[in-house]
Amino acid sequence: MVERSAPSDAPMANDGIRLQGVTFAHCALLARLHGLCFEDGWNSATVAQVLRLAGAFGLLATIPEHHRDGGPVTFDAQTPIGFALVAGVLDERELLSLGVVPAYRRRGAASALIEGVVERVRGEGVTRLFLEVAEDNDEARRLYASLGFEQIGRRPGYYSRRNEPAVAALTLARPL
Ligand SMILES: CC(C)(COP(=O)(O)OP(=O)(O)OC[C@H]1O[C@@H](n2cnc3c(N)ncnc32)[C@H](O)[C@@H]1OP(=O)(O)O)[C@@H](O)C(=O)NCCC(=O)NCCS
Repeated sequence: MVERSAPSDAPMANDGIRLQGVTFAHCALLARLHGLCFEDGWNSATVAQVLRLAGAFGLLATIPEHHRDGGPVTFDAQTPIGFALVAGVLDERELLSLGVVPAYRRRGAASALIEGVVERVRGEGVTRLFLEVAEDNDEARRLYASLGFEQIGRRPGYYSRRNEPAVAALTLARPL
């Protein structure tokens, strides 16, 4: 189920990063962010389709906007920098997509998003969060390892690549 309203008073994570639940009104924004993070970006319709899956929800990471002199624009002005999309039923959820735009990486946004997901699904009785990551995606694999995910499977040739051989998907899981 997708949250219908975005909490404005969500707790701050590292570096002023805030997390909020997404609504269908965020589909175009999420598609834009997705396109900045992945070679084959999703369009708004695909994002909406994902948000209609059983148990689906999304989190958006933002940071406060700043003037060129470094001062805040207004207290509430926020720049979207990353997202997590999740779905699943019963006691398992899958992290379907996660991305942070290049200019804002290595500030803890992805870690904050995953911990935000974990916090939310724990409250729903979920006991395991899993995901798939391309075997050659070293950044993401380091991120997931640092957050306690372990490999539970491997699917050879799962991700096709332009002008390169297909790459295996690793299935990772984290018990909650
Ligand atoms: C993978 C991705 C989500 C990481 O986002 P991020 O906000 O930069 O990650 P964090 O800042 O939370 O990183 C947490 C830890 O992950 C590891 N990590 C993340 N990016 C890394 C990189 N480029 N090189 C080495 N380690 C990295 C580090 O251990 C890092 O901790 P540190 O910065 O204290 O060393 C981001 O690079 C991205 O959007 N990539 C493109 C899309 C993608 O691959 N998504 C995942 C698909 S499964």
